[in-house]
Amino acid sequence: MRLPSSLTARLTLAYGLATAAILAGVAAYLSSALSAQLQGRDESELVSEVLLVRHLLREVRNEDEVRADTHRFADIAMGHEGLILVVRTPQGDPLVTLNPRNEAIPPLHVLPVTTQPHKSMLEAWRPKSGAQSPAIAALGQLGDTGRSVEIVVLRDAGYRVALMREYRHRLLAATLCGAAVAAALGFVLARRGLRPLRRMAADAAAVTTSRLATRLDAGSAPAELRELARELNGMLARLQDSFSRLSAFSADLAHDFRTPISNLVGQTEVTLAQSRSVAEYEALLESNLEEYERLSRMIENMLFLARADHAQVAMGVRGLDARAELDKVAEYFEAVAADRNVRLSVAGDASIHADQTLLRRAVTNLLDNALRHAPAGSTVRVDIARRAGEVGEAGDGTCIRVVNAGPAIAPEVLPHIFGRFYRADPSRRNSAASTGLGLAIVDSIMRLHGGRALVSSSDGETVFSLLFPAGGDPRPHAVA
Ligand SMILES: Nc1ncnc2c1ncn2[C@@H]1O[C@H](COP(=O)(O)OP(=O)(O)OP(=O)(O)O)[C@@H](O)[C@H]1O
Ligand SMILES: [Mg+2]
Repeated sequence: MRLPSSLTARLTLAYGLATAAILAGVAAYLSSALSAQLQGRDESELVSEVLLVRHLLREVRNEDEVRADTHRFADIAMGHEGLILVVRTPQGDPLVTLNPRNEAIPPLHVLPVTTQPHKSMLEAWRPKSGAQSPAIAALGQLGDTGRSVEIVVLRDAGYRVALMREYRHRLLAATLCGAAVAAALGFVLARRGLRPLRRMAADAAAVTTSRLATRLDAGSAPAELRELARELNGMLARLQDSFSRLSAFSADLAHDFRTPISNLVGQTEVTLAQSRSVAEYEALLESNLEEYERLSRMIENMLFLARADHAQVAMGVRGLDARAELDKVAEYFEAVAADRNVRLSVAGDASIHADQTLLRRAVTNLLDNALRHAPAGSTVRVDIARRAGEVGEAGDGTCIRVVNAGPAIAPEVLPHIFGRFYRADPSRRNSAASTGLGLAIVDSIMRLHGGRALVSSSDGETVFSLLFPAGGDPRPHAVA
C-alpha cells in the first residue's frame, strides 16, 4: 500500500488508525470482562436457585403440597431470564416444571442431599439457542419425611450471547466514531502544525535572482525546522555570493572586450575615411592582427578558467622533475630576458606531482609578469624547494618561488591580485599585452592540483609562491 504524499493526510491517517487501535483494544477488554462477569453471575444464580428450592422443599410435607404450591417455586425463578426449573420425583414424575420453551432436559449427575452445591459442580448443556449453557441437578429433602426429590436447574445462556452481541455492536460503532473524530482532530492539528512549513515555502517562493538577499525567518520557525531554515539560508548566501561574482565577472568581461573592439573599429574607420597606400593598409592590418591576437588570447584564457571552474580540465598528474621543467620554461624566456637586460636564474631541485602542461603554464604566467616588472639589470630568480607536508597530506610537497625586484605591490592590492581581470597598474588596462587573467589562471591551476598560490611583496622584492601538495590524488577544487 502506498502512503499518501501529503504530510497532513499521513498524520490524519496515523491519528485515525492509532485511535482506532486503542479503542478496539479497550473495547475487546471491556467486552470480555463483561462477558466473564455475566457468566459468573449466571452460575452463582444457578447455585443459589438450588439452595432456595431445597429450602422451600423443607417447608412442605409431601409431593402433593409441592404440586399445589407451584407458584411459590415459580416466584423464585422470576426475573431470571432463561432460567428453567424442574422439580421431580426420583422416578421422573414432574412436580414443578418451569420450562417455557420446552427444552429437552439433558441427563445430569444428581448431587446427594448432603452435598452443598457449588459453581465448580456445574455441567454444560446446549439448549435450542445453541449457546453453551450451565446446568445443575441435586436432591432436596421433602420436609422431614426423609424422602427426597430431584431439583434440576438449567439456564439458557442464549439471552447472554444476544446481549453481548448487541454490546459489541455498540462498542464497534463507538470505536469507529472515536477514530473518525480523532482523524478529524488530527487533520486540524496537522494543518496548524505545518503552518510554519507553508510560511517557509512562501518565503522561499519570494526569492528571485533580483532578491537573493531574502532570508528565511529561522528565528520564529519551530526547532525542527530551524536547522533546515539555517541550511537554506546558508545556501542562499552562497548562491548570492556566486551570483554577485558572476555579475561582476560578466561586467568585467564586457568592459575588457570593449577596448580591443573599439580600437579595431576606430582604426579601421579612420583608415577607410580616405584612400590609402598599400603600406598604410598593411600597417592597419598589422595593428588589427595585434588586437585579434589579444582577443583570441582572452577568449582562450576565459575558456580555460570556465573549464577549471567546473573541474573539466584534463589532468595528467604524475611525478615530474621540477628542475627540468623549470629549465625548459626559463629557456623559452631567455630571449625576452636578454631583450630587457634582466638575468634569469633557476635554483634548487625537487620532484613534483603535477600536470606537466599546467605546471609550465603557471610558471610561464609568473615569469611573464616578473620579467615585465623587474627593473633592467636585476635578476629574476626561480627557486625550487621541498616543503613540509601539511596536516592531512601524505608527505612533503614542493614549493616553487618566482622572485623579482622592483617596486613593491601595495598591500591593499595583494588580496585582489589573483582575481580575474585585475590589474594593479591602471595603465595596463588598455595594453594589448595584458588580459588581466594571468594570475587568475595560476590560482585556478593551483586549486586544480589541490595546492595554493601565494604572493608577498616588500622591500623592493615581489615573491609569488606555488605550493604543490605531496603526491597522491590531487583534489580538484572548483574555483570560486
Ligand atoms: N611580479 C609582479 N610585480 C609587480 N606587479 C605584478 C607582478 N605580477 C603581477 N603584477 C600585477 O598584477 C596584475 C595582474 O597580473 P596578471 O598576470 O593577472 O595580469 P596581466 O599580467 O596584467 O595580464 P596577462 O597576464 O594576461 O598578460 C598585473 O596587472 C600587475 O599589475
Ligand atoms: Mg600576467
